[in-house]
Amino acid sequence: QQLKLSLEQIEKGGYEHFMLKEIFEQPKSIHDTLRGRLLVEEGIIKMAGIWDNLERLNQAQKITIIACGTSWHAGLIGEYLIEEFARIPVEVEYASEFRYRNPIISEKDIVIAISQSGETADTMAAIKMAKEKGAFVYGICNVVDSSISRVTDAGSYTHAGPEIGVASTKAFTAQLTVLSLIALKLGKHNGHLSNQEFMRLCTELETIPQKVQEVLESTHEITKEIAKSFVDAQNFLYLGRGYNFPAALEGALKLKEISYIHAEGYPAAEMKHGPIALIDENMPIVIIAPRQGHYDKIVSNVQEIKARKGKVIAVVNKGDTQVASVADYVIEFPETSECFSPIIASVPLQLLAYYIAVYRGANVDQPRNLAKSVTVE
Ligand code: G6P
Repeated sequence: QQLKLSLEQIEKGGYEHFMLKEIFEQPKSIHDTLRGRLLVEEGIIKMAGIWDNLERLNQAQKITIIACGTSWHAGLIGEYLIEEFARIPVEVEYASEFRYRNPIISEKDIVIAISQSGETADTMAAIKMAKEKGAFVYGICNVVDSSISRVTDAGSYTHAGPEIGVASTKAFTAQLTVLSLIALKLGKHNGHLSNQEFMRLCTELETIPQKVQEVLESTHEITKEIAKSFVDAQNFLYLGRGYNFPAALEGALKLKEISYIHAEGYPAAEMKHGPIALIDENMPIVIIAPRQGHYDKIVSNVQEIKARKGKVIAVVNKGDTQVASVADYVIEFPETSECFSPIIASVPLQLLAYYIAVYRGANVDQPRNLAKSVTVE
């Protein structure tokens, strides 16, 4: 027993939980995912899986992304990335829905399956169906040699390393990193992305590990502090727009998975079609509002919330004054292009969920009723 305990402590590398260790590993896991692929000096993105199948990918009538849970949230951001830079129509579906609804898929289609474990039963079944219909299936998996990585036609690994905490953190940001690389590479080769824009985005992508390091250092204490005020919260709303709408969904999922507080993510503009009815002084609302990306619209959403006395936790860029001046709590993160901002903004949301769960005495690494990998239906 004693030996087992100390082994586990060693594995946790001095952190109290695997989840916290994995949150702090993100500068490295993102860097590892970019390494050998993003070659800024040479002006190229090297990905064998994409390069070898470039024609097929670029001629796709549409791309359907299938995944579950956190990987599905990464897929939603993948849709924004691929449509913006490669101009190929993208749909994102829950694998569990896709597999049972006779979707329209043909040989001209590409299916991208995203899975940390590479073993999720619904994703696996959806891939089999897509292959039967003749689609070319591209996998984005973290676990090397996993079932999904073996059945797909081609793919790219996320190099996040083993993820032990049930709530996915570093695998998610690594998935966003791979999706960014794919979108930029496809866009460059099919001519929708100018060389200049491609270079600008590649140069920015290279700074992301450093910016994630900065956000970890600058928000660790503040998220811990803010978490204390919300230990007894019953509900949470998470809002974002554009690329950060799926980041809001993921922030809400992290909180409900490990703290058991009910949380919902919403596109900020949809607030007026329902959630606004819930807002009063007892409703905490996390709102992601980077400068690049619908900023003015978000400012008016924040004002609407404050007019109803909601408690605003604003996740904004460094030096923000407008949202920060009306928010109750402010979490700052380094500025980047809108398309990469979810990678950075997600980090303080992971920390916030983590500390709220810790203060509630929850089993952070193994939340009740959840499994790391869902291999049955
Ligand atoms: C489970 C895990 C989640 C994960 C989801 C999909 O629900 O608890 O963290 O996002 O499965 O798993 P996958 O391995 O396919 O990404």
